[in-house]
Amino acid sequence: MGKVTFTILRFDPEKDKKPHYQDYEVEIRRPGMMVLDGLNQIRWEQDGTLAYRRSCREGVCGSDALNINGVNRLGCITHLEDLKTPVVIQPLPSMPLIKDLIVDLNDFQDKFFLCKPFLIPKKPLPDLEQLQSPEDRRKLDGLYECILCASCSSSCPSYWADPEYLGPSALLNIWRFVVDSRDVGADERLQLLNDRHGVWRCHTILNCIEACPKGLNPTQAIGGLKKALVSAKF
Ligand code: FES
Repeated sequence: MGKVTFTILRFDPEKDKKPHYQDYEVEIRRPGMMVLDGLNQIRWEQDGTLAYRRSCREGVCGSDALNINGVNRLGCITHLEDLKTPVVIQPLPSMPLIKDLIVDLNDFQDKFFLCKPFLIPKKPLPDLEQLQSPEDRRKLDGLYECILCASCSSSCPSYWADPEYLGPSALLNIWRFVVDSRDVGADERLQLLNDRHGVWRCHTILNCIEACPKGLNPTQAIGGLKKALVSAKF
């Protein structure tokens, strides 16, 4: 069924002074092959030193976000037949490079945890679970599905330029709790991002929308946060 060339950024901190590109030939063995299938073929059959992350192979865990032909995408749900060749694969932009296609996500994850990604409930806690109307539950659609792959934040020029900017992923996750009818922590959360490294750093560039593999809209969530801050009473 033919072959496709993968041009992959390689970097081994123990051997290389700087990153370089290496070409591999990937055999197309069946219709519907994904980029991750090609990476697995290289690692398992040609070059066991190639380093990349992957786990679920279903677009759920978010571990194999990569820059593929200049666009951030998940390798496991990106069809090879939809791509121009050679397929150029690089690690996510702006994240510190650890090895080959693996980047350091500590700062990205710290920003997520800073936004308190858990329900802050009314006290005292009810004896039974807190119920939510179907209408209130629907407000979470388009927010709770974030898989923390970092595709959006690493595609954002504001995130590249300001290392302290929380970024679209963390901001979307803050909005997810601000709009949750069971949460009483809105003021506490909003105060976290009411400065130039918070919500006001977003300049509506919209790259985050294009990069999100789940079809979410972080720019809209950030717009909601800006409106909430303007009318906040603290
Ligand atoms: Fe889990 Fe791709 S391997 S999202």
